[in-house]
Amino acid sequence: MEKLVSLAKRRGFVFQSSEIYGGLGSVWDYGPLGVELKKNIKERWWRSMVHEREDIEGLDAAILMHPKVWEASGHVAGFTDPLVDCKHCKNRFRADDPRIKGTPGQPDAQCPACGTKGTLTAPRQFNLMFKTFMGPVEEQAAVIYMRPETAQGIYVNYLNVLQSSRQKIPFGIAQIGKAFRNEITPGNFIFRTREFEQMEMQFFVKPGSEGEWFEFWRAERLKWLQGLGIRAEKMRWHQHEPGELAHYAKDAYDIEYEFPFGWHEFEGIHNRTDFDLKNHQQASGKKLDYLDAATNERFIPYVVETSAGADRTALVVLCDAYREENVEGEGEGGGEQRVVLKLKPSLAPLKAAVFPLVNKDGMPEVARRIYDDLRRRYNVFYDDGGSIGRRYRRQDEAGTPFGITIDGQTTQDQTVTVRDRDTLKQVRVASSGLVEYLKEQLAT
Ligand code: GAP
Repeated sequence: MEKLVSLAKRRGFVFQSSEIYGGLGSVWDYGPLGVELKKNIKERWWRSMVHEREDIEGLDAAILMHPKVWEASGHVAGFTDPLVDCKHCKNRFRADDPRIKGTPGQPDAQCPACGTKGTLTAPRQFNLMFKTFMGPVEEQAAVIYMRPETAQGIYVNYLNVLQSSRQKIPFGIAQIGKAFRNEITPGNFIFRTREFEQMEMQFFVKPGSEGEWFEFWRAERLKWLQGLGIRAEKMRWHQHEPGELAHYAKDAYDIEYEFPFGWHEFEGIHNRTDFDLKNHQQASGKKLDYLDAATNERFIPYVVETSAGADRTALVVLCDAYREENVEGEGEGGGEQRVVLKLKPSLAPLKAAVFPLVNKDGMPEVARRIYDDLRRRYNVFYDDGGSIGRRYRRQDEAGTPFGITIDGQTTQDQTVTVRDRDTLKQVRVASSGLVEYLKEQLAT
């Protein structure tokens, strides 16, 4: 994992937040390549969930919401983790931290940080929502929360979207946005952070049909993830045991990935029943039921939710793409080890890099022209620094799928070499056909 974190910093994927001040705990910033990778993932999600489906509408709800939303949703009372403190070293842990030996609150319990016995407090519930104040007075009545999930913005807009879009049940609402959780034990780079982005879709269905839709969305989401190029053997399903279920869920499956630090969830499919809409109807006094015109029945829809973290999905994509390889006989730099991100070309931050073989004989001028032409369509990079082998290695680490080299032959026959990041094979392509060539390679 350290290797990936260091590559992410070296190549400009992810930096620690406020690093010059020593960093802010478990908050991360995306650099020039990271922002492109995450944007490509989000755009792909949006395209498949919203644009390619007639039965799903998009939404962008505000992060700040009426505080009653979080009371009705059960988050004020139930979105908690059990927390224990060490009275000796003042460290805090989740009560179920596997490093804790013994029973917290009892003399036998041993602090995992300082090793002292009997200093861990009994567990107490700690709410994970960040609080802030709305308006000039910092008082209890002015408390509002930073949303811990985007889903509630969808529920409170369910009627607005239904009426304005003229959708009929079954239909869904999708949204991508920031969420915040004051996690007690964050960590593992961008796996568990305090500020993150979710890609969530709530699918509203007729009660009784939720089982069928649940299976439908499980299959769809796995297919989508495989389409990102994630190796199938690195993913598995985990069904929640009754004790594991979130306060709103009747059934839930996680999609787990085998990270370098073990199997962990990165997306969930949840059967939320009518829990949220029913509670909002009751708390707001506003009717949220649905009239089925065909049968004249009224009901509160059930919800099947698909909930993914954009950051965690980006981490999966990075972990899955990271390889160390011996490269044999590739010009300069051959016979040595390379680090390469084998990202699916359409997800890669840079689609191609353009290199003049040497900085003379008219090559830089031609290379610049090609670069200017390509960057009108694609995010491409120009690099004339150092040996060609070193330039290839830098782009391998960035996950750039194609390296375009302008050499002596280019000035004679207007062809360039295109080097494939994964196979290392080079083909000669007419420079006038490069846009078409890239379009074909990036189609999936
Ligand atoms: N609306 C349902 C919901 O929020 P969740 O399982 O708590 O469900 C869904 O979160 C997804 O959001 C997770 O699978 C993960 O990808 C992402 N996520 C949750 N907490 C996170 C955190 N602290 N840091 C990064 N991603 C997180």
